[in-house]
Amino acid sequence: MLGLGDKHTNSLTMDQPVPSSLLDTGAQNIISKPLPRYEGAKKVSGTARYSAEFTAENMAYGVLVGVGHGSGTVTGVDADAIRGLPGVIDVVTDFKSFLRNAGQGGETKAPTQGVEEVAYFGQFVAIVLGETYEAARGAALQLPLTVEPAEGRFDFDALKGETDTPPPNNIPAHYTQGDLDRAMAEAPLTFDATYTTPSQNSAAMEPHASLAYWDEGKLTIYGSYQIPTKDAIALAKALGVSQKNVRIVAEYVGGGFGSKLGISPESAAAAIASRQLGRPIKCVMLRQQVFDGTVRRSNTEQRVRLAAEADGTLVGIGHETLCANLPDEDFFEPAGIGTHSLYKGEHRVITHDLVRVNLTLSGSMRAPGEAVGMLAIESAMDEFAEQLGIDPIELRRRNDPDKDPEKGVPFSSRQLTRCLEVGAERFGWSKRQPKATRRDGEWWVGLGVAAATRNNLLEKNAAKARLNAAGHLFVETAMTDIGTGSYTVLAQIAGEVMGLPFERITVKLGDSESPESSGSGGSWGACGSGSAVYLACEEIRNQLAKKLGVDPDAMTLKDGMAIAENRSTPIGDLAGEGIEATGEINPGKQKDAVTQASYGAHFAEVAVNAVTGEVRVRRMLGVFAAGRILNRQTARSQCLGGLTFGIGAALTEELIHDVRNGKAVNHDLAEYHVPVNADVPQLEIEFLEERDVHSNPLHAKGIGELGISGAGAAIANAVYNACGVRVRDFPLTLDKIL
Ligand code: MOS
Repeated sequence: MLGLGDKHTNSLTMDQPVPSSLLDTGAQNIISKPLPRYEGAKKVSGTARYSAEFTAENMAYGVLVGVGHGSGTVTGVDADAIRGLPGVIDVVTDFKSFLRNAGQGGETKAPTQGVEEVAYFGQFVAIVLGETYEAARGAALQLPLTVEPAEGRFDFDALKGETDTPPPNNIPAHYTQGDLDRAMAEAPLTFDATYTTPSQNSAAMEPHASLAYWDEGKLTIYGSYQIPTKDAIALAKALGVSQKNVRIVAEYVGGGFGSKLGISPESAAAAIASRQLGRPIKCVMLRQQVFDGTVRRSNTEQRVRLAAEADGTLVGIGHETLCANLPDEDFFEPAGIGTHSLYKGEHRVITHDLVRVNLTLSGSMRAPGEAVGMLAIESAMDEFAEQLGIDPIELRRRNDPDKDPEKGVPFSSRQLTRCLEVGAERFGWSKRQPKATRRDGEWWVGLGVAAATRNNLLEKNAAKARLNAAGHLFVETAMTDIGTGSYTVLAQIAGEVMGLPFERITVKLGDSESPESSGSGGSWGACGSGSAVYLACEEIRNQLAKKLGVDPDAMTLKDGMAIAENRSTPIGDLAGEGIEATGEINPGKQKDAVTQASYGAHFAEVAVNAVTGEVRVRRMLGVFAAGRILNRQTARSQCLGGLTFGIGAALTEELIHDVRNGKAVNHDLAEYHVPVNADVPQLEIEFLEERDVHSNPLHAKGIGELGISGAGAAIANAVYNACGVRVRDFPLTLDKIL
């Protein structure tokens, strides 16, 4: 990547809308195309290397040991008991340095908590090192720990009377506008109900894994991480070394869904053990350890209040939520985040309070906030529509605000009602029958709908691009590909701006030593890193125009040629010794000048067995508007994943902690039920045309988490329409329906 030639910088802060985009010129005509991930073949053939697949010379294996108590103090680790076992090298029990998962809510903080004090069941207290994985694992299973147990806080329901108010997490914990109590007392129509959602686990296919080694005081980690830039900084802090001495490489990541936003315990443990032993250490978490010792989505309890005029127009909306976390952790599930701007209502109360428990650390999981908050809000809207005798789509249409109902600012772009209308037409919504009137043999059949929204965030991102004399473009940023298609989408953006086909573009991702990136998370990945790549390429394009002596607007780049004034020149010839540019995007005033979110509508048809209460999803449709769709295939795949998550949230997923000791009892993929193929029917996705000039120069908005937000509510609403049973306690297992 390094080389001779000119170096330039192109920096943009989103203070103003950016009305025109080079992606609209259609020069290369590859942007938005439904192109498959070009690295996909490597993934299915096993040649794309994931963290656990890296090896190093003289490498040893580490297996973490978790504590079998939910509260108390570790008073002894009998390392001698296993040191003599064949193949066992050592046990490292440097408690103070062992870490819980960190960096929740999109912001990576340095973990400081030592672990002599046991905060939750399964917390890691040692790493056993062996010449082979089997030796280390066998010994880890036998390592005697002595623990002085203490009373723990394990029962959310028993403790929920005691809460405290945490600091902000994207949104303030408490928001009040007007007088909701009065609105509830005076409005002709009101609704008040409480919903609960269980703990969940991200359950990414690839477990958390790291290979760590030190070379002259510098640590390299091949690790499974969503944000290498921030994760390297956090790890350096935790280890007490300088930032330039930690490098994280995450070339491919097998899913994260929030659980890999921050550094997780195995990387710190491997790094410390490697430093002590003077050998590379690989540590891969067992599936049970992923459940016990990384991070969960908190369970929630959510009270929804609605107050409306006789025609259903909301005058008041209340969304008061409880969630849980460890005694010294302040992350809260921002369940009300979507509620702030989804519907009308001048009297508003949106709150989040924390119940302190000794259960698995709570943190971000896919669409933190909306994913579970909208289960409640969108169920409530369905219940209210039924109470009012209004079609649920019509109720939402009447309450679609024309500006942000709290801040009073415009929406950057918003097609919620349009998504509902297009979906209704395509799904056959008009054939929906009154509840419990449609039978198919022993199955009740029904339709449900819910809105989708997910806030759109832009984070600081940089990328470097270099064009060489052969006309090949190299693009580099510390962005990651967590299965989403980042390599392909960034190549499409670069290719469109530079007029280059895929074969002439190389994208390098996943290295904390590349230009800083916000990585993958919060649905900000493609837009942020894509904007940085766009700006870098725009600058190279400007330099090419300069060399030709023409205005950039008077030049077309196509198929590797620069065309201007009836001349056509290979861009490699113009590049000479090479042109290098750094692109940099920063959030600016647009963040507050407009409210930015992506929107959609979910439709579901379900069948409920009249004898057993079993629910089968028969078909689903998601219609989404998220600005420019950068790649219609990878975007669709994101939405398919979201709908599938919605099926899990509605029907199957529930992480259960034993109230006696805080143990996660169903901590594997056999007992924690993510939807499998047989649970997922034909899913259809449609995107509406949209450009958002306020979001970024790509005119795109986040899409990763939009598909999950609201999806489960459409299923719950369809269950009600099918059989007339309303379950407010997610997931809707058959015992609750019968
Ligand atoms: Mo997402 S939960 O911000 O990876």
